[in-house]
Amino acid sequence: MEAITLPEAGDILPHVKWFAAYAGRQYDRCEGDDGPMRLKEKHTLAVLGHAGSIVRKEKFSPRISRACLLAALYHDVARFEQYLRYGTFRDGESRNHGLWGACILKREGCLAHEAVPVRRLVLAAVAMHNRYALPAALPADAACVTEVVRDADKLDILRVMDEHLSGPRPYCPTVVLNLPDAADKVSEKVLEDALRGRVAAYADLRSVNDFRVLLGTWLDDMHFACSRRLFAESPHALRLIADLPQKGPYAAARACLLRRLETVRRESMSSDGAA
Ligand SMILES: [Fe+2]
Repeated sequence: MEAITLPEAGDILPHVKWFAAYAGRQYDRCEGDDGPMRLKEKHTLAVLGHAGSIVRKEKFSPRISRACLLAALYHDVARFEQYLRYGTFRDGESRNHGLWGACILKREGCLAHEAVPVRRLVLAAVAMHNRYALPAALPADAACVTEVVRDADKLDILRVMDEHLSGPRPYCPTVVLNLPDAADKVSEKVLEDALRGRVAAYADLRSVNDFRVLLGTWLDDMHFACSRRLFAESPHALRLIADLPQKGPYAAARACLLRRLETVRRESMSSDGAA
């Protein structure tokens, strides 16, 4: 994987190996279906890959670059214990997996050999990656690392959701956050957010189609130009939105989100031409 060999971030292979071994131990503890946990491991490595793309493009300092990759690798470390203990990935029904992840990293000592500034940045980014909004007073370096993880995370969630929602029904309740796949459950708040160019909130979701809309609104939540572009060019984003009903309450939000994807794609192509 390219992200592991980014010269500016140093060698992160020992961390990747530790993570794989940790995940393996959690699978061994699982008495039921460990599939959802395995999807989280796959997601983690994809997020690491996206973080590598962003780091390469943004040309951060070695300290920030390393913290970005380690935070991407560890951002969902709590998902395993969350699933084993509570059988869900919904924080509201269990625990905040960002804060919990930072506790696990400290408990396991897997950042003990890192320089103190890198360790602090990784712990902060893991703890805050899942917040609806970051604190205004967050230092710039911690905000930067957290935003890289958040963008990379969102880019792969598009893939996870598209792969699942393009597959056969019924959907796995864990993957769709236990939301009903019901045409009559529509969140007016989510639709309004989409039409006004605001990022929708998980708390307002009422159905799987609302979830598709929420994912589409993330385009406006991408922090870096390259991640915004990766989002707009993602076939997963396109399909998630295009598969919304073309008639009825979702039609306007669908058209609006598709238009925005197209606009960003055109802007990226014209900036390539200008370069
Ligand atoms: Fe997460």
